[in-house]
Amino acid sequence: MPEFPDIPRHVAIIMDGNGRWAKERGLPRREGHRAGAESVREITDTCIELGVEYLTLYAFSSENWNRPEAEVKALMALLDRFLAEKAKDLKRQNIRLLAIGQLDRLPEKTRKLLAKIMAETAGHTAMTLVLALSYGAREEIVGAARGLATEAAAGSLDPSAIDAGIFASRLQTAGIPDPDLLVRTSGEMRVSNFLLWQISYAEIVIVRKFWPDFRRNDFIEAVQEYQRRHRRFGAL
Ligand code: FPP
Repeated sequence: MPEFPDIPRHVAIIMDGNGRWAKERGLPRREGHRAGAESVREITDTCIELGVEYLTLYAFSSENWNRPEAEVKALMALLDRFLAEKAKDLKRQNIRLLAIGQLDRLPEKTRKLLAKIMAETAGHTAMTLVLALSYGAREEIVGAARGLATEAAAGSLDPSAIDAGIFASRLQTAGIPDPDLLVRTSGEMRVSNFLLWQISYAEIVIVRKFWPDFRRNDFIEAVQEYQRRHRRFGAL
């Protein structure tokens, strides 16, 4: 195991490029997602190995509902399978599972599976895996603002008391430290409505590889890039 003194506490990943990975191989898109699920397993294991405390994965965006029905179905089926298969590992590896996003939009079967595994793993302490599902940062921020406005209108909250800390406590990520490192695969330089509030100070590392090709060594390289920047920043 490599010796890393300065491990990011929270890594967030925009897993991009499953479709292009499949296209390059003349395969249907769902095969790209299937291979991408393998990367999810490997990167989760690597986080445990390195001592990353929080891993947040953008598994399904609120915009992804606009994809063809067959692809959405394939992604949900893949997620169900991943959750069912991963439940044992989460227990063995002492990983806590959390989910953020508009979870009420997910199929009932997926919601029930998620709720069951989240309850079963609630006390786990080795790492927290956060799945962003049907997630959109603007929707999350609007939800927090709406909640605060409702309380202020009801008279239970003084508007002048609202500060960044109170606002953050109303986001779905309340209690989770902000990401130190944001990784996006497949070379795109966009944030795509992911954790807009939380990534304010994150180092951003863009990797050219498609997500299904992004494995242990690629993750370690991204962490090393983070460490180089972080050390420079610390020396100033
Ligand atoms: C982006 O590829 C990826 C997604 C839309 C979803 C990510 C899903 C997985 C990695 C698999 C299942 C997830 C879990 C947690 C098991 P894209 O389809 O946008 O690729 P493209 O930009 O090349 O078309």
